[in-house]
Amino acid sequence: MSVTRAPRKLYVKSYGCQMNVYDSQRMADVLARDGYVETATPDDADVLVLNTCHIREKAAEKVYSELGRLRVLKQKAARDGRRLTVAVAGCVAQAEGEEIIRRAPVVDLVVGPQSYHRLPDLVARAAVEGRVVDTDFPAEDKFDHLAAPTAAATRSRGAAAFVTVQEGCDKFCTFCVVPYTRGAEFSRPVQKILAEVEDLVAAGVKEIRLIGQNVNAWHGEGPDGRTWTLARLLYRLAEVPGVARLRYTTSHPRDMDDALIAAHGDLPALMPQLHLPVQSGSDRILDAMNRKHGRAEYLRVIERLKAARPDIAMSSDFIVGFPGETEQDFADTLALVDAVGFASAYSFKYSPRPGTPAADSDDQVSEAEKAERLARLQARIDHHAAAFNAATVGRTAQVLFESAGRHDGQMTGKSPWMQAVQVMAPPSVKGEILPVRITGTGTNSLHGALVVANGTAPPRHDGPDRITPADPALPGVPDPAVRAASGGH
Ligand code: 5AD
Ligand code: SF4
Repeated sequence: MSVTRAPRKLYVKSYGCQMNVYDSQRMADVLARDGYVETATPDDADVLVLNTCHIREKAAEKVYSELGRLRVLKQKAARDGRRLTVAVAGCVAQAEGEEIIRRAPVVDLVVGPQSYHRLPDLVARAAVEGRVVDTDFPAEDKFDHLAAPTAAATRSRGAAAFVTVQEGCDKFCTFCVVPYTRGAEFSRPVQKILAEVEDLVAAGVKEIRLIGQNVNAWHGEGPDGRTWTLARLLYRLAEVPGVARLRYTTSHPRDMDDALIAAHGDLPALMPQLHLPVQSGSDRILDAMNRKHGRAEYLRVIERLKAARPDIAMSSDFIVGFPGETEQDFADTLALVDAVGFASAYSFKYSPRPGTPAADSDDQVSEAEKAERLARLQARIDHHAAAFNAATVGRTAQVLFESAGRHDGQMTGKSPWMQAVQVMAPPSVKGEILPVRITGTGTNSLHGALVVANGTAPPRHDGPDRITPADPALPGVPDPAVRAASGGH
């Protein structure tokens, strides 16, 4: 009688940015070759990976409290006669290294983002020996050694897929750990990106999201042996049959070149939405942050983007309470928010990251002041986001359906402007791009109704995902009067 061994189970929990979500998928893919299958719960896992984020304080602290809870899970597995191998990956792993095992002995393996292709070996060693640490920046290209997802894995991950095209950052903003945890900029070559995109589309993916810490600084080798720009890559990807939508994130204002801005006007598949972090509206603070651009330069980039694609929805990141930030500096940030009218934005209290220049500044802003400024900034951001969303009510938008919705019978998808839309629709719409009449706004999402092509409410479109010229004032375009009144730059 032969005994077949049950497949070993893997649970990966992701924190932080989209790069980590992508990395978690690659980790699952590379371990799948060793017979690991993903499980939806940590309770029956043989290997548990926490893919961590180090960008802000709370993110790392959350990891340590999660590791505390995992001690109990590991003890329970041991009582059941199983060994649970706990791995910490991501930027906390890179930044803290062995310190993690010292502080949390429950951890068997610490692995930095550049070593994921070595996971099968590392996990095998950790399962036997425990206490394995690999935070090297190896010479080999990890992408060459990472496994491609199977078509089934791709299908289970939905109609919008991430593709990492670039990693690392050479900008060295004075508050940021990324250049230290993710290392120097690296761009993947065009052929490798194309092959990955073609596989994804063949498995049913409709929307490709190119990701990188500094994605618009991408400069990869083309098939012609020349260095291509991100704009050129986007034009090429737009030609791939089946690529209905393209997005890219996260971009730096300094790297928004003319060709990339023009691509937003030229390529219907390039969605009218861009995340362009500015961090502050004050020239003095932008300078202290080593952002390499001023307020006027940022506003000019947005003006040019809007000239190329008038309905483009802008989003951004802000830091409040950077060392030395005065009330006037903060007022400049609020004015910039009003001038642009962001469709959405993230805002954070400055958190000193060990090893970064700003952490040593003796000009730190008090916690109370940071909290107070954050609340005021978030109120301004919410105001503009609500106005942006309200402006889409009554319109018809193309929605890419991604998953089941909040309530029974609902499906949820994304508008071209990256808004979540809840719609009463059968599960069969999953993976489809369909016209939806936006009927109202809710908490964090819009409500809409499928436009049925029965003659009563035909969708009017002038191209993929474009709104009709007959539509009223475009969302995301601030009233010029508001811009003039609050610009002040
Ligand atoms: N403190 C607060 N926010 C930070 N971010 C990056 N580093 C810090 C820090 N030390 C924010 C920036 C960045 C986003 C990903 O995280 O706004 O754009
Ligand atoms: Fe960090 Fe600045 Fe690089 Fe963005 S551009 S990853 S904020 S150093």
